[in-house]
Amino acid sequence: MHMKVNGEAVALPDDPRVSLLDLLRENLRLSGTKKGCNQGACGACTVLVDGERILSCLALAVQYEGRSVTTIEGLGTVAALHPLQAAFVEHDGFQCGYCTPGQICSAVAMVEELRRGVPSHVTADLGSATIALSRDELRERMSGNLCRCGAYNGIVDAIEATFAEPAE
Ligand code: FES
Ligand code: FES
Repeated sequence: MHMKVNGEAVALPDDPRVSLLDLLRENLRLSGTKKGCNQGACGACTVLVDGERILSCLALAVQYEGRSVTTIEGLGTVAALHPLQAAFVEHDGFQCGYCTPGQICSAVAMVEELRRGVPSHVTADLGSATIALSRDELRERMSGNLCRCGAYNGIVDAIEATFAEPAE
């Protein structure tokens, strides 16, 4: 049984109790994905599965047979930052950086949710085919990713600078 992690085939663990987060961090040594609360409350462990964001601390690795997992290491590298990583640097979107990989993975998937018209608690028109990236939508949709350093203003600025459609 295998899954793909950042494009590479990876064998699933024999022990069905291993979380996806522990597989990534302990078995594969992909330490970019962070363990904060380990109980689904902080968002530090957010990764992408087939492009959708999930909390890897709440996921058993064996659930993801045949699926494609992307971690922060698969989004950008030191030599070739993802545009959102560069924006986090430019807009002071972090202090300690512990929450940052989860913030970035979450934001990348969040923008795709907007493009697909997936509504949030603050969406006014539930029938829209796509939803604009307003500050209210952004803050609501990123509310599952906590930042103990309180770098929220920089995080919002970085996401907006990267993904907001230019004004007409
Ligand atoms: S470590 Fe997964 S939500 Fe906090
Ligand atoms: S930058 Fe420190 S927790 Fe967010």
